[in-house]
Amino acid sequence: MNPIPFNKPFFSGNELKYITEAINYGKISGNGVFTNKCHAFFENKYGFGKCLLTASCTDALEMAAILLDIKPGDEVIVPSYSFVSTANAFALRGATIVFADSTDVSPHVSPESIEQVITKNTKAIIIVHYGGIACDMDKIMSIANKNNLFLVEDCAHSIDSYWQGRPLGSLGDFGTFSFHETKNIISGEGGLLTINRTENIKRSEIIWEKGTNRAAFSRGEVDKYNWIDLGSSYLPSEVTAAFLFAQLESINKIQEKRIRIWNQYYSGLKLLEEKGYFKLPLIPDYATNNGHLFYLLADSLETRNNLIQFLAKSNINAVFHYLPLHQSPFIQKAGSSNELTNVLKFSNQLIRLPLFFEITDLQVDYIIQKITDFYKK
Ligand SMILES: Cc1ncc(COP(=O)(O)O)c(C=O)c1O
Repeated sequence: MNPIPFNKPFFSGNELKYITEAINYGKISGNGVFTNKCHAFFENKYGFGKCLLTASCTDALEMAAILLDIKPGDEVIVPSYSFVSTANAFALRGATIVFADSTDVSPHVSPESIEQVITKNTKAIIIVHYGGIACDMDKIMSIANKNNLFLVEDCAHSIDSYWQGRPLGSLGDFGTFSFHETKNIISGEGGLLTINRTENIKRSEIIWEKGTNRAAFSRGEVDKYNWIDLGSSYLPSEVTAAFLFAQLESINKIQEKRIRIWNQYYSGLKLLEEKGYFKLPLIPDYATNNGHLFYLLADSLETRNNLIQFLAKSNINAVFHYLPLHQSPFIQKAGSSNELTNVLKFSNQLIRLPLFFEITDLQVDYIIQKITDFYKK
């Protein structure tokens, strides 16, 4: 068997055609024809009030932090089991980052753990719909409402996924998506900010365009543009937007295939789970599965690492996921020391299997077979 990578970017076919079109329009900086097409796609398909393409999910998170006026002294609650940007975007504004634990049964943040760390200085809760599967939003939205806290959904994994029929990214004050090449829908680097409260729309466009009202100027609403607020260069070029639009046209095909691969793994590994060798992902009744990632949870760090090595010897690139943010060198330097036992479990024991559009049934069967061989030993 040829080596099976963990990820392989999928090109849906029209990327170069649309990039050429963008070049022919004679404008390849941001906020042009393809940016508008992408915005319209997201607003029509998911009913997001307002969307802004960004150069990354990291950028979208940074925009959310500016929009929430996060400042030194504010506490922001973040899941420790996440990517650096989920926390860093708020740390950049001077917030104190307070980490919450995962639930016992899944890598998602535990609502009870969030509740335990709320203080009078808490300003916002950031959640991650891990693997594109919704968090327990009933509980989380009620905690945010009861305590008058802002809520940001880090939807880096969560394109085209739902909670009780409502699209992820539409439930909090803001949603932030990633189109990094490891995600379902890609543009190399790329992201999206959803703005779910009308009172934030005007300011979001200003922050997006370097703190200026250039977006309003482009629409002919003002006769010159000026420095209005804080901001940065958060918008991607039309080259990126053209690439992304080609991907969006194929979203149904991409999602169907990824979910089919996910189901193939699930049914192929279910028997081993029933024998107690490891645990498979849970999809609660309130959530959909968007086929973003497939993981299994080994019974120990040692087994997990041995399994990764065993698969590597069979030319399969399986990988672990997040390191606990609360134990990162940056946070340890600041002297934080909470005990988040579930985060440690997912960090030590979780293993992600290759999942990409072009992986074949044969390759997935081979991976399932190798995992079976490992546990038979
Ligand atoms: C949960 C989460 N948030 C944010 C990011 C950052 O995304 P980007 O690379 O688009 O900035 C990632 C990256 O994978 C992520 O996993």
